[in-house]
Amino acid sequence: MPRVLMVRDQQPRCRIEEIDDEQLPDRAVTVDIEYSDLNYKDAMAVTGKGKIVRDYPMVPGIDFAGTVRESASDRFAPGDRVILTGWGVGERYWGGYAETMRVDADWLVPCPDPLSSREAMQLGTAGLTAMLSVIRLEQAGLPAGSKVLVTGATGGVGSWAVQMLAHLDYEVHAVTGKPEQSQWLKTLGATEIHERTEFESDSRPLEKGRWAGAVDSIGGKTLANILAQMDYRGRVAAVGLAGGAELPTTVMPFILRGVSLLGTDSVMIPFEQRRVAWQRLAALPNGLFSNMHVDEIGLEQVSDAAEAMMAGKTYGRVLIDPRK
Ligand SMILES: NC(=O)c1ccc[n+]([C@@H]2O[C@H](COP(=O)([O-])OP(=O)(O)OC[C@H]3O[C@@H](n4cnc5c(N)ncnc54)[C@H](OP(=O)(O)O)[C@@H]3O)[C@@H](O)[C@H]2O)c1
Repeated sequence: MPRVLMVRDQQPRCRIEEIDDEQLPDRAVTVDIEYSDLNYKDAMAVTGKGKIVRDYPMVPGIDFAGTVRESASDRFAPGDRVILTGWGVGERYWGGYAETMRVDADWLVPCPDPLSSREAMQLGTAGLTAMLSVIRLEQAGLPAGSKVLVTGATGGVGSWAVQMLAHLDYEVHAVTGKPEQSQWLKTLGATEIHERTEFESDSRPLEKGRWAGAVDSIGGKTLANILAQMDYRGRVAAVGLAGGAELPTTVMPFILRGVSLLGTDSVMIPFEQRRVAWQRLAALPNGLFSNMHVDEIGLEQVSDAAEAMMAGKTYGRVLIDPRK
């Protein structure tokens, strides 16, 4: 009888329920979940503040890591350690806020050996997306040691991007609305901290070039300002919309400076690119995991943590132990 966090389109929106194994979706692989996590998209799904949930009732949770209990797929056997991120899980299909879930084999990636389930979810979609952004910037020719701007720097994607880029010896400038976390961001490897408000005014089409690369979780005017401030042939990995989905910019950065805007998606990215990204994540030094700020909660606390995330009050990563 697995416990799950069930979301319904009624009040109360979230309830912890015990369900029968037969109520689990009819899919190939049954996984005992050791950890899940809270991403911005999960916070929108749990609070109902974004149209994330496509079908009710829904077990949210876009990520989980755990151990295969039963498998009707020849790709996985009982005892295999696996990770799931994306594919619409927690949006269209029941997800990770559960002690046990049944999912498609195609959605699973083997958990690389050095990573525990806890470490895998310390990363989760946030860490995977940060790594995919780094890969996008590298493939677009980011010069070694150059200046890279990271927005939403205390968030999940942002704080992992700061750490990964600093680990790769880039000069990381972190943009945050939480100046009280400046010291922590420096511990993660940021060399300079910028106030979020510096990037929120109406931007001119082009400003003085300052950055060779950027990872942006914010969108809106922030992304417009960043595009105007890129060096010649600079590249920006666009990841998120925490500040807005619009993009009030002009073609000037693209046609006069050759700036590249690199769309970065973690949800539908094909298996082989996921596997490569997870191999790189598994090779990160242990110190990066111990530097990460983690709040660990159980299913009962997910609702409050989601409200806090939507209010911009969380930082680092929120881990969920469904058995807690
Ligand atoms: N493309 C993909 O596949 C993908 C994958 C993961 C996430 N995302 C998107 O990336 C964004 C970040 O996700 P996350 O999981 O890292 O969320 P998160 O942990 O909540 O981090 C978001 C950060 O953005 C900043 N922020 C929050 N509200 C803001 C606002 N109104 N204006 C400006 N800055 C704001 C805050 O950082 P500071 O206080 O430090 O400024 C916050 O910590 C979300 O939009 C999410 O949907 C996309």
